[in-house]
Amino acid sequence: MSHDERTFVMAKPDAVQRGLIGEIVSRLEGKGLKLVAGKFMRIDEALAHEHYGEHEGKPFFDGLVEFITSGPVFAMVWEGDDATRQVRRLMGATDARDAQPGTIRGDLGNDLGHNLIHGSDHEDEGANEREIDLFFDDEELLDWDRDASTWVY
Ligand code: PPS
Repeated sequence: MSHDERTFVMAKPDAVQRGLIGEIVSRLEGKGLKLVAGKFMRIDEALAHEHYGEHEGKPFFDGLVEFITSGPVFAMVWEGDDATRQVRRLMGATDARDAQPGTIRGDLGNDLGHNLIHGSDHEDEGANEREIDLFFDDEELLDWDRDASTWVY
């Protein structure tokens, strides 16, 4: 059964530095997902702590905050049938060294921390809405249809 949902995705600072924003967008578009919001921005300490709050206290937390605030990110919202799980599958395993070829991290990622892309956790109910709300105002989420128009050949 089809159920369209919206999911939060972010090209991390390593993806921006390496010029991979377009590649990441392209892979999600190519899969048939629909972009409904995008924002090129810097994450400050406060937003990093809110976004990754569940990991506070873990050994990698300080490094993660340092990394995610180190340069611009491209935050996005994508829509589609089962979008959260679809994005997670396209991303591949968290540790890019273990990620399957064919996935974004498997093909392009370097290591555990520098893994190019964040997607809301499909096993964490409410993560999508929480993260979308954190990064976007309601009016920044665009409702649009991919209808065939006369100027699309
Ligand atoms: S956990 O503990 O299993 O919930 O953590 P995990 O889901 O594997 O990872 C959560 C996010 O933290 C990042 N991470 C790290 N960053 C830097 N160094 C180390 N060692 C490290 N371990 C995990 C990981 O990339 C996840 O980031 P997001 O943005 O959520 O994918």
